[in-house]
Amino acid sequence: MKRKREITAVVLAAGEGTRMKSSLPKVLHPVCGRPMLLVVLDALQELKPRRILVVAGNGADLVREAVGDTAEVVVQERRLGTGHAVLTAEPHLEPNDENLLVLAGDTPLITPSTLQELSGLFFESGAEAAMLTLRLPDPSGYGRVLRGRGGEVQAVVEEKDASEEVRAVDEVNASVYVFRRPDLFSCLREVDNRNRKGEYYLTDVVGKLRERGGRVVALLAGDAAEGMGVNTRAELAEAERQMRLRVNRRLMQEGVGITDPTVTYIDLGVEVGRDTVIFPFTFLQGSTRVGENCRIGPGARIVDSTLGDGVVVQESVVRESVLEDGCSVGPYASLRPGTRLGKQAKAGTFVEMKNSSVGAGSKVPHLSYMGDAEIGEGVNVGAGSITCNYDGEKKHPTVIEDGAFIGSDTMFIAPVRIGRGAVTGAGSAISKDVPPGALGVERAPQKIIEGWKKRKPSDTRRLRKLPPGEKLPPRGKQPPGEKSPPGEKSPPGEKSPPGEKSPPAGKAPRDGR
Ligand code: UD1
Ligand code: CA
Repeated sequence: MKRKREITAVVLAAGEGTRMKSSLPKVLHPVCGRPMLLVVLDALQELKPRRILVVAGNGADLVREAVGDTAEVVVQERRLGTGHAVLTAEPHLEPNDENLLVLAGDTPLITPSTLQELSGLFFESGAEAAMLTLRLPDPSGYGRVLRGRGGEVQAVVEEKDASEEVRAVDEVNASVYVFRRPDLFSCLREVDNRNRKGEYYLTDVVGKLRERGGRVVALLAGDAAEGMGVNTRAELAEAERQMRLRVNRRLMQEGVGITDPTVTYIDLGVEVGRDTVIFPFTFLQGSTRVGENCRIGPGARIVDSTLGDGVVVQESVVRESVLEDGCSVGPYASLRPGTRLGKQAKAGTFVEMKNSSVGAGSKVPHLSYMGDAEIGEGVNVGAGSITCNYDGEKKHPTVIEDGAFIGSDTMFIAPVRIGRGAVTGAGSAISKDVPPGALGVERAPQKIIEGWKKRKPSDTRRLRKLPPGEKLPPRGKQPPGEKSPPGEKSPPGEKSPPGEKSPPAGKAPRDGR
């Protein structure tokens, strides 16, 4: 009878993950930004299985939350081994779940094509089971695959239960199998836990099937890394390294330039357009999308952000932001969530922005903080300008309309609005709205004290009539009653002494380009 080529997947993910020494369930540790269980589920989805069951235990609620509606979660209350985990799933199977693809949730490097090939082998061979095997230079930790004279698979022996001779075998079990449901469960019911770990091993099913005269066919993975199991932090780092190279290779095949793929960290699912070049030590994370012809890095970290075409980001952090075509960011900028740069806009050196929009062609080139700001088009914000958006209780907005020119070191005491084409004087603390086309300036008049350089401490002593030996009071502090000598500081409101020159308030402001 021809088999229905339909598959139900069972993912084993209930292990304690003891060796990770973590409060997070092992299968939720991320590989290139995605929890490894979800990476496995992504691969499975491509096979279009009838259903996917995930056997969870440790942190089952977290697993359920991560999995969402992509799979059904079954809880294995007591973790008695991989065989027991599969038995836990049995009551949840439907009558049409005839062929079961069973795999471990800790093998994130498995590819859809290998899963496809394995299930193809299962259906075409007519065997009772098919399994994936790996040939490893160092097989330690894995179950060894024993083959008979004719090369047929006979059994899997766990390392802890293996003799020296068996341990020398370098072909191992990848923990990916396809079974016929009735064969699997009738064998599993015979499996016991009389082994070194005291667990019910799924691997014992292989031997049992053979004893009953059944046939188990094996597919040897072309790339042994595919079956790599992650049990420790070191293995997680290794799996991530392999995945990283895979991600980067795929992007390069699609026309993305990556100067050094070994030090470029791109999460699974990130999209990058053609002819974009990514320089070393760059991280593209989460749901980030980068357009064509961009220059990213070195040293950029871009998280959950969307970049248009021709964007340049150097040595900067960009989170939950949108950068339209032709923007330029950095070096050393921090764009925090809610930043939006319009076409050709610039956030330059040591610029921080948060919840702010910058219109097309506007520039914030140096040393500024823009928080809760709405900046129009064609605006230039001079160096060192800052939105004072927080009054200790609430955040307030700053609006800078199209074509405004902001003098360097302008403080915007929000809420405040700078009208269209308005100007602010350098060094001004702007607390009132500036109408369109007007100049807003807030600056104390400058004083000039002639001959300051030539003055010696003895002159000051003489001027203050201090007896020799008495200490001078600190600069700027005068004993009460003393009169200021000519040319010295005068209290506010006093007329400038002769010789002082102050520019007219609101003399042409300058930006700090
Ligand atoms: C298992 C295989 C071994 C194989 C290796 C490949 C068995 C007995 N051994 O060993 O032959 O070479 O994988 O990586 O199957 N799990 C449960 N419930 C449990 C125990 C485990 O769901 O009660 C899950 C784990 O979460 C894990 C998977 O099953 O995802 C494998 O378990 P693990 O303990 O990692 O088995 P290994 O010792 O790696
Ligand atoms: Ca494992």
